[in-house]
Amino acid sequence: MNPYAIHTAMILDKRREAEAIDTYRLEFADPALRRTYRFSAGQFNMLYVFGVGEVPISIVSDPDEPEHLDHTIRVAGRVTNAIARLQVGDSLGIRGPFGRGWPLEAIRGKDIVVVTGGLGCAPVVGAIEYIFRRRGAYGAVKILHGVKTPHDLLYRERFDAWRHHSDTEVLLASDQADKSWQYHVGVVTELFHQVRIDPARTAVLMCGPEIMMRLGAPILIERGVPASAIYVSLERHMDCGIGLCGHCQMGPYFLCKDGPVMSYDRVARFLGQTGV
Ligand SMILES: Cc1cc2nc3c(=O)[nH]c(=O)nc-3n(C[C@H](O)[C@H](O)[C@H](O)COP(=O)(O)OP(=O)(O)OC[C@H]3O[C@@H](n4cnc5c(N)ncnc54)[C@H](O)[C@@H]3O)c2cc1C
Ligand code: FES
Repeated sequence: MNPYAIHTAMILDKRREAEAIDTYRLEFADPALRRTYRFSAGQFNMLYVFGVGEVPISIVSDPDEPEHLDHTIRVAGRVTNAIARLQVGDSLGIRGPFGRGWPLEAIRGKDIVVVTGGLGCAPVVGAIEYIFRRRGAYGAVKILHGVKTPHDLLYRERFDAWRHHSDTEVLLASDQADKSWQYHVGVVTELFHQVRIDPARTAVLMCGPEIMMRLGAPILIERGVPASAIYVSLERHMDCGIGLCGHCQMGPYFLCKDGPVMSYDRVARFLGQTGV
């Protein structure tokens, strides 16, 4: 697909997930593109609001159902505000998919530990659905997710459904709790102590605030998980999405092309630093 070409897509559905966060189901206007468009879990699209600008947004939907193209978007600034004003039936532009997603074929046979925080669960949803469609191909699955408050918990029904898969644990944590919260109170990394991890056969998929990954990955490494088996999905400002403009540079990498999913051993020294 021409990476510069912007394809028109219509909003089929818009669903409120939390304060200022909505999930949009999109459908390409071009029927041929609807049939041929494919993505892998963890990739992103550039979403373009005509006359306003473009933003990178992860694809949330199941890669085995490419006809459903879902994006969960939090209002952050100019472009995401313009997206939030769009309604069902309105159109926007899409370029993509871009980037490298989760290495789901390479980690077949492994136990999977998913560690996410806040909206960081969005890029991992497709990976979890992929794994559960091929349940026998993976070992134990442990999904650990943290939020700031119970109101920030997205995809509540998905977390409930994932709990029912065999050999699967779903653990939730919230920094602050209210009466409705039945799970851990504290940060997501505290959940590491509640799960058994066999480090030699574990792959970790991590996504959330960079500080969570920067503090969380070393705890898992201390428990024996190799840094090369910890995969993090990273965010930087992006413009072209295809490795040309340099906006997303991190050390020797362009995150739009080499990432956004990278193994921790390759990026650890750049996390928490600006201007590298
Ligand atoms: C690979 C990738 C996947 C992403 N997936 C999602 C997603 O699934 N859902 C979602 O809501 N957002 C996602 N984002 C973040 C999203 O792209 C930004 O929120 C968006 O670009 C902000 O644009 P804006 O014009 O609305 O805000 P701006 O007016 O550009 O910025 C508003 C504020 O947000 C800050 N900001 C902008 N971009 C980023 C960024 N990448 N990281 C940290 N701070 C930023 C700016 O510095 C400013 O303070 C993703 C980013 C990347 C790189
Ligand atoms: S966004 Fe242009 S090089 Fe990555």
